[in-house]
Order: sequence, then C-alpha cells, then structure tokens
Amino acid sequence: MSTAQAISQDEAKRRAAARAAEFVRPGMRLGLGTGSTAAFFVDILGGMVRDGLDVVGVPTSERTRAQAASLGVRLSTLDETPELDLTVDGADEFDAKLRLIKGGGGALLREKIVAAASARMIVITDASKQVDTLGKFPLPVEVDRFGLESTRRHVASAVARLGLAGAPTLRTAADGHPFVTDGGHCILDCGLGRIPDPEALAAALVAIPGVVEHGLFIGLASIVVIADAAGVRTIGEAA
Ligand code: 5RP
Repeated sequence: MSTAQAISQDEAKRRAAARAAEFVRPGMRLGLGTGSTAAFFVDILGGMVRDGLDVVGVPTSERTRAQAASLGVRLSTLDETPELDLTVDGADEFDAKLRLIKGGGGALLREKIVAAASARMIVITDASKQVDTLGKFPLPVEVDRFGLESTRRHVASAVARLGLAGAPTLRTAADGHPFVTDGGHCILDCGLGRIPDPEALAAALVAIPGVVEHGLFIGLASIVVIADAAGVRTIGEAA
C-alpha cells in the first residue's frame, strides 16, 4: 500500500511550478506561461525576484503580464528580447512524446510564439494531464473572426478527412458572447476524443487560411514536470 498523502490538484500544480523554478538562473530571459499552473510559477518567480534574482520575463497573455508586473518581475516583449532562454508554461494534455494540447485558457497563439522563441520549454502539470493518446481535451483552434463560419466548415472537413469525429464549436465567454483572445481572434474547440496522428492534424489545420494557430504543440517542450501525491518527476531531456 502506498504511503503517499493525497494532495489537491492545486498543490500538485504548485509543486510542479516549484520544481521548474529550480531551472531558473540569474540573468535568464524567461517566457511566462498562462493558466493556473503557470500562475503558481509566476508567484514563485515573484518571490525570487523579491529576494534579489534578476531576470526578465516575456508574458504570454495580458493576464500573466498583469500578475508578473504586480509582483515586480521585470518585463519585456519579443520585439525587445526576441530570443529567450526558458519558457515555463502549463498544458491541458501531454503524451509520452512531449506533444501537448494547449489553449484551454485561450492564450495558445502567444504561448506558441513565446515557446518557439525559447531555447527550452518546461511544461508544468499535475498528473491528470498525461494521456496515452492526445484528444480527450477538446483541441482549441484559434481563428480569425473574418469568415468564421466558412473557416469552421473547413476545420470540420479537415478533421473528417483524417477520420476524426467532433464538430468544431465556437468558444463563448461567461457573458455568452464569443470568447475573444488577446490577439482579437475567436477559438473553435474540437472535441475529437482521440488524435492518433497529431502531426497530420497539425499540418491539415495550418493549411486552412482562416486558422491563425492550433493548440497542438509538437516539438516544442523539452521537459514535462509532473507532480502528484507520489512526488515530482520529469520526462524529457535529462534535468
Ligand atoms: C492556456 C493554456 C494553459 O497552459 C492550459 O490551459 C492549462 O491551464 P491550467 O494550468 O489552468 O490547468 O494552454 O492557454
């Protein structure tokens, strides 16, 4: 019988964030992710900055920008700081090949741009996000508002051509209006159940003109830090 004490999902997220903070070095240029797990990391980073650490952060959303600024983290943009040392971000799902689904919080476009500008991306998660096959979490696809219904149909056709089922659904905000991203776009959530070939789906989606970006992050994560009651473990490059 395991002697591990149960921990809450939030506590698992905090522990994963704390492990990622051990990778931070003075002078680093950091990408700051979005979501509740990334927020734990930004909180911890704020404490490190208060204790004298000098780093610069590029936030992946206005939400994260506000949080980091309130904690005194020095901020920059990719225009001023186009190359980053490390990005720390959460994920909605990941598999053993470090492929991710992201965008549950609606920040996938900036998250992907920032991750692509980083030498390393560390993903921080609780253990519930690990899957054998991506797709249980509805795949967010960020689309331009112009031609939305036409793009939605193209996305549905692309999905169907790959033998996948699941109608793309326009994400709405709490007020019932379409959710609008920091970049002014909408999101289609595709509840596919299983994505056996994420690379093929990614290629099909980027070929659609109205698609701005999709939430499949392939070849971007270097390490996934996973926390649960049993402890904190990593997959990916040797820590
Ligand atoms: C935001 C994201 C988040 O990283 C993802 O939704 C995970 O969020 P949380 O840490 O709150 O579970 O991709 O666009």
